[in-house]
Amino acid sequence: MKKSARIFSGEILFRHFLILQSKIPDMSHSTPCVKRDGFTSSFGVLAATLGSAVGLGNIWKFPYMTGANGGAGFLLVYLLATLLIALPVMMAEIAIGREAKANPITALQRLAPRGFPWWVIGACGMVAAFLIMSFYSEVVAWVFAYILKAVEGSILSNDPQVTGSAFNQLIQDPLQSLLWQWLVLIFIGGILLLGVAKGIEAVTKKLMPLLFLLLLILCAVSLSLDKASEGIRFLFQPDFSKIDASVVLMAMGLAFFKLSIGMGTMMTYGSYFRDQQNIPTTTLRVMTADLFVSMLAGIAIFPAVFTFGFEPAAGPSLVFITIPAVFAQIPMGHLLMVLFFVLTAVAATGAMLSLLEVPVAIIHERFGISRRKATLISLLVLAMAGSTCALTNSSMANVKLFGLTMFDLFDYLSSNILLPLGGILICLFVGWSWGAQRLQQALSNRGQLHNQRMIHVLFFLLRYISPLLILIVMLKGLGLF
Ligand code: PFF
Repeated sequence: MKKSARIFSGEILFRHFLILQSKIPDMSHSTPCVKRDGFTSSFGVLAATLGSAVGLGNIWKFPYMTGANGGAGFLLVYLLATLLIALPVMMAEIAIGREAKANPITALQRLAPRGFPWWVIGACGMVAAFLIMSFYSEVVAWVFAYILKAVEGSILSNDPQVTGSAFNQLIQDPLQSLLWQWLVLIFIGGILLLGVAKGIEAVTKKLMPLLFLLLLILCAVSLSLDKASEGIRFLFQPDFSKIDASVVLMAMGLAFFKLSIGMGTMMTYGSYFRDQQNIPTTTLRVMTADLFVSMLAGIAIFPAVFTFGFEPAAGPSLVFITIPAVFAQIPMGHLLMVLFFVLTAVAATGAMLSLLEVPVAIIHERFGISRRKATLISLLVLAMAGSTCALTNSSMANVKLFGLTMFDLFDYLSSNILLPLGGILICLFVGWSWGAQRLQQALSNRGQLHNQRMIHVLFFLLRYISPLLILIVMLKGLGLF
């Protein structure tokens, strides 16, 4: 039987089951003479990891949340949430990946004591990755469609009613929604087919500087507008009265989503990290640069929004309705709008690459099939799952489970259940199973780095503080208190 035909056969599934049960060694990924693909330079590691963190979240979520929830006060809470929860989990995930040099399922199997099914974290991660990609790719599809619309100038109207109906027309057209989504999937899949170094690393190394350049251009224009100061005030003016328990919990959830943790993404990328890479420093840089991108996005958006008298908003209505109406009134608005949607597409590309790499790495290594086939299988599954989200505003608008459309259901399941669950399990694995000594070894590059004290604090957080805080966020997200 040909190998490709065996993928779904009982034989291979049974073998996979045995591997998971640790009855037989997982040899599928070991091709002895072939070096495992990975990042080749320090800048490449940074670009790829930052590429994963930076995404739609920086443009349509973070700036609005900051502005609406207390400006600088919210930033402070977000920083605390990041330092206490997100950063420790991110470091732990990357350390696990690099130690095992394997996809999340195999990695946890290799590092866990025999008989303990910690690999479930990797399996949940893969499910979460598919769920997130299903709806994320649809929003990215709208962004790609808007690049074309921006070039044509068809959405250049200062009337939000007009830009609003153009947006509705797009999302309510089943064929367009599907085609744009598939185009995005082919684009991302095409990059992944080139491999880790020649695909992910090479592309993000070019995209990240471009992202900063475009952002700076848009910031300069926005700051030169009449009521720029109003926008800046909305974004940064500290208002501690707005900070309550739900804002704190929101900041924690955001920190998780922003740094792409809890679902094996960072573990997968960690497995491509170079041995000499300083993991704590890299994660700190990624976190800072990601925050900087969010702030720049806010500076690019809100001064313009306030100058033309629009209400600040979040989500699709900000990006696809308000922003085109704003650009219609700015000198050189046509060109700037094209730049804005290219910038958003650039941000989303790095995030999508990291999401799709999770199942690709798992399928490639665990089933011992080529990366090419693994990518095609992942794309196929994603095209099927994703189409339910693409059609959520048209043919499948009435298809609901638990009262939610597929789009909202996938968002809910991943953000409120799988990501926090993954985060808690990673903390528990490192804090209570893997142990302080191994974490110390991994994060100090076998004693070469003098960061012992920091790792002590980190371990304490991972063992006691972070899992508890994540549990609170999770229960709150589920509406249990
Ligand atoms: N960090 C991305 C953003 O802010 O848009 C979203 C994301 C990417 C979440 C990758 C999870 C992930 F694995």
